[in-house]
Amino acid sequence: MTLTLRYMHPGDVPAVVEIDAQSFPDPWSMRSYMFEINESRISHMCSLILSDVAIPAPEPRLIDRLLRRKSPPVPSEMLAAYGGLWCIAEEAHISTIATHPHLRGRGYGEIALAGMLLRAIALHAEYVVLEVRVSNRVAQNLYHKYGFVTVDVTRKYYRDGEDAFLMRVELTNPASVEVIQTLYAQLQARVPFTDDYSRVSHPRLGV
Ligand SMILES: CC(C)(COP(=O)(O)OP(=O)(O)OC[C@H]1O[C@@H](n2cnc3c(N)ncnc32)[C@H](O)[C@@H]1OP(=O)(O)O)[C@@H](O)C(=O)NCCC(=O)NCCS
Repeated sequence: MTLTLRYMHPGDVPAVVEIDAQSFPDPWSMRSYMFEINESRISHMCSLILSDVAIPAPEPRLIDRLLRRKSPPVPSEMLAAYGGLWCIAEEAHISTIATHPHLRGRGYGEIALAGMLLRAIALHAEYVVLEVRVSNRVAQNLYHKYGFVTVDVTRKYYRDGEDAFLMRVELTNPASVEVIQTLYAQLQARVPFTDDYSRVSHPRLGV
């Protein structure tokens, strides 16, 4: 089993949209994700891919049995987590992040977050902000771990009326950057993954 963090491909979007729908009351559309990947000039979307997964072989399809031919190969990789980062001049913004509901608690969301923070550092962002539901303690714990602090509350930010915490981490503070880099190194040692995202150029924008 291998894990690879890389820029999101259009082919990832159906799986992303499925996880999104299971993770958020107001999920993004397929079209929004396609825009982020194919058109946006500020978006750096990432996918964490789990490869060589032991997925049980399905029963041969009826059509294949009748024609005595082999069923198509079983996919050997799946989307474990994904995230979105917008970078505009000195500001970076985590636009979304989620882990496959069956794969939570294994460090995969942390890989996506740490990768996006390193990407923001590589792009010379001075700070990173995000909004999180006041009830979402799991995500808040993850952000606190990486040095985010709550700087504001936006009343009724979400469509269902829930408030949002605005959280922020400073990248001009060497101590904050050191915390992020140390946590990233510890994560790499604990959950080995290949990072083809945080230090590579955007495949379309080249930055
Ligand atoms: C938030 C989310 C991305 C975390 O991803 P994950 O892969 O489950 O989390 P990880 O295993 O990488 O855990 C990283 C950290 O998150 C926090 N965390 C994860 N699961 C937690 C739990 N059940 N309870 C409390 N904190 C938890 C911890 O700080 C953890 O660090 P630790 O292992 O050192 O304790 C995931 O829960 C998710 O997809 N939630 C739905 C979508 C969402 O809410 N996104 C955030 C929008 S702002």
